[in-house]
Amino acid sequence: MITTPPETSVYTGEATRFDTIEGMASPRFSPDLKTTRRRFLKATLCGAAGLALYAGEVERHWIQVSRQEVRIAGLPMAFDGMRIAQLSDLHLDEFTEPFFLRDAIDHVNRLNPDAVFLTGDYVTWGISSRSFAEGAAWQCANILAGLNCRARYAILGNHDVMVDSKLVTTALADNGMTVLTNACVPIERAGARFWLAGFDDPVMGNPDPDLAIPSRIRNLPHEPVVALCHAPDYADDLLAHAAGKTVQVMLSGHTHGGQVRLPIAGAMQLPPLGKKYVEGWFRLGGLQLYVNRGLGAVGVPFRFDCPPEITLFTLRSAYRKRA
Ligand SMILES: [Fe+2]
Repeated sequence: MITTPPETSVYTGEATRFDTIEGMASPRFSPDLKTTRRRFLKATLCGAAGLALYAGEVERHWIQVSRQEVRIAGLPMAFDGMRIAQLSDLHLDEFTEPFFLRDAIDHVNRLNPDAVFLTGDYVTWGISSRSFAEGAAWQCANILAGLNCRARYAILGNHDVMVDSKLVTTALADNGMTVLTNACVPIERAGARFWLAGFDDPVMGNPDPDLAIPSRIRNLPHEPVVALCHAPDYADDLLAHAAGKTVQVMLSGHTHGGQVRLPIAGAMQLPPLGKKYVEGWFRLGGLQLYVNRGLGAVGVPFRFDCPPEITLFTLRSAYRKRA
């Protein structure tokens, strides 16, 4: 028995039309809808290209100088007002171009800090070859030699360890940086001092609090300890150690602040040991932790809602009376 499709199966609307052809209903787009769809696709593609251009060329090169005052208990008055610039996650030069790093160094030189602290990831262990990354380490250290400030202290990040700790350390040291890998140095002024302790990278290296902060420098009156450690989430481990309880301030990087932060969804990706403390200040008991967003990019050559950062700290002695 042959059945004829009921008349109700034929629908003619504004958007689509279903015509009955030999008893079958077949969808067909109207010319109006085709034009609308084409326009929508064009607008979407233009929007995506515009966003990529903004995130890749504008915001990725848009350095923000973040000025922070940090009050340190036990810091001698001789250091009150001392200014320290922090640079982190340079990542030359998978995406970070040499001109951009030179631009960042010019920024720092204009700030005229008393010291510069570099918190790791000078190169990238990624799609490029090891020899490319090794060359980038020397080029990066060479550009960093353009810092006018002579007091330059550096630690390594996970990418530096993956490329070659020894090579990156040599490149930095040969260009005037003091590299602190599980080591500490006194920072002295007018007969007073505080201690700067640098850790090996916690993700790929072997941080050792007993070497970075030996017992001889713990809990000295008026000689506080400031620590540099690439991965901020290591702060929890450090605080579980006797040495960690003597640290007043820890400066980190590693997270890139999320690098690409989408509305509602937030950071697209956060690295191991960089998921809990992502950006800015955190107070963990007696420890003040600061996480710098870094200068460079990894994975994708974009930054969105997360511009590159140079931090300029002004140290304040807790002895100083508030204005
Ligand atoms: Fe990094």
